[in-house]
Amino acid sequence: MYTFDEYVGDLRRITAATTDYAEIFDQVSPLASKISLAKDGWMKPELYETDEEQGFGAHLLHEEDDHSLAVFAVAWAPQNGTPPHDHGTWAIVAGVDGTERNIKYNRLDDRSKPDYAELEERCSFTASAGEVICLKPKGIHLVWNDNDVVTVSLHTYGRHFNHTGRSSFNTETNEVIPFVVSVK
Ligand SMILES: [Fe+2]
Repeated sequence: MYTFDEYVGDLRRITAATTDYAEIFDQVSPLASKISLAKDGWMKPELYETDEEQGFGAHLLHEEDDHSLAVFAVAWAPQNGTPPHDHGTWAIVAGVDGTERNIKYNRLDDRSKPDYAELEERCSFTASAGEVICLKPKGIHLVWNDNDVVTVSLHTYGRHFNHTGRSSFNTETNEVIPFVVSVK
């Protein structure tokens, strides 16, 4: 069985050879799918714990000393999720247990005002176990658990998302808000 340590080793090897996120997506996506489907080797009951206030629990599984290559198991509370947000780094999300709806957005404004953004929905995709979604550093999405049970996905980032200065977006007021996540 593909192990979590092997996955981290592959992440190190791939990102040492390229910083081009398109190449990273091509090479890491099948491995993210493989490690998600091999969850019996790394999944633990506590990784299903959510954060009531936040609506999801972010469990850090790996991070390099410089905050690069951060891997999280994220547990999504029923009927809960995130606001639209970016990551400030490449992101690869793979379903582990249950389904999660992803909505990707286009940004319509010219980014000239730092606290202002206009978004429109581009597409929606519901990811099941082993299915992968890739996001560029400026890509914007939201995640939502439409189910009545906790779901889990595995998130791999070029850099820990609390160290990238990333943002969330209020689509009603067009505000851009710093997005810092409580990590377990
Ligand atoms: Fe995200």
